[in-house]
Amino acid sequence: MNQRKIIIDTDPGGDDCFALLWLMSLAKQGWAKAIAVTTAAGNVGARCTFTNASKILALGGFDPVEIGRASKQISDIAGDESARNAALDDTQDESARDITRDIAQDVAKDAAHIHGVDGIGNLAETLPEVPRPFDAARYSDDIIIEKLDAAPGEITLVAIAPLTNLAAAEAKSPGILRKAKELVILAGAFQCRGNIATHAEFNIFSDPEAAEKVLNSRDDIVILPLDITHQLVFTPEMAESIFQTNPDSDIAKLIVSLCQFMTATNLRYRDTDGKNGFLVHDAATLAYLFYPETLLLRRARVVVETQGRYSRGQTLFDDRHLPKTTPNAWVALKVDADNLLAILVEDLKLLIE
Ligand code: BDR
Ligand code: CA
Repeated sequence: MNQRKIIIDTDPGGDDCFALLWLMSLAKQGWAKAIAVTTAAGNVGARCTFTNASKILALGGFDPVEIGRASKQISDIAGDESARNAALDDTQDESARDITRDIAQDVAKDAAHIHGVDGIGNLAETLPEVPRPFDAARYSDDIIIEKLDAAPGEITLVAIAPLTNLAAAEAKSPGILRKAKELVILAGAFQCRGNIATHAEFNIFSDPEAAEKVLNSRDDIVILPLDITHQLVFTPEMAESIFQTNPDSDIAKLIVSLCQFMTATNLRYRDTDGKNGFLVHDAATLAYLFYPETLLLRRARVVVETQGRYSRGQTLFDDRHLPKTTPNAWVALKVDADNLLAILVEDLKLLIE
């Protein structure tokens, strides 16, 4: 069987958990091999995303896979490490958030209002403790560099978080991202509204300079943007049908509870246009890799706004019918959402049966 080797860069994150569970199912079936999981600060702070990834992997029996801790931002590499870590750990109180923010106001610095203050629907403490200390973990950028250097052209890099770790790896080792077999990222909003702001998608908005560095790293980056993930509404009925496969499974219980939490916050923030469910954004990257028949992509040169007063973090491509000579990406703009979600459900059943 032709196994795809994957490093996944993640900030769990409710939808990140679903992507990790999908990856574990594909690995269990023999289609994928997790080479490493690297974590970034994003939906919540760095310690939380590291711990969440550790707990999710342990649930699926993937304990031996190395997990990296968040790298420093490129702008901070010369800065004070302890101050940076303190900032990364500073998650905000959900109740203090204001749903009425408008374009002229500051936007949230993380996505705890969607994912819960612990990043996984306030369920982290219901999951078993994992003996994997954050402080002893290697930095994610170092892991990415080591693994890609050791196997150039063999490993697919999947990024479903702010692109801080990838940019840090590229800054430390210029050209390293070109050593990935493919670079597949969940990022951007092109012909639809954003989520963290009207013009911007969360992963790009969280670290636009990193996104720019990554977008300049190679000319074949695969981008799964909100344009298609807005259609990926994972419903409580889907969670229930997975649960019925094996009601004793801890993973099945987590899927139901996390779906319930995420559905409530997605409805509150009107992410699903009133549909009962939540957007399982990050899973789109695995759909592209393993079930590409569910997506249509367009070649484009993608750029990110790093300066704008109101438009920082916006992603753009040129839609005019004028010659283009420097494309750097393939952007997914159409999705067969029904089939993608049906496949996800069936694969999650295979993970827990
Ligand atoms: C992305 O932002 C995060 O909140 C999600 O986990 C996903 O990676 C969607 O914009
Ligand atoms: Ca994510």
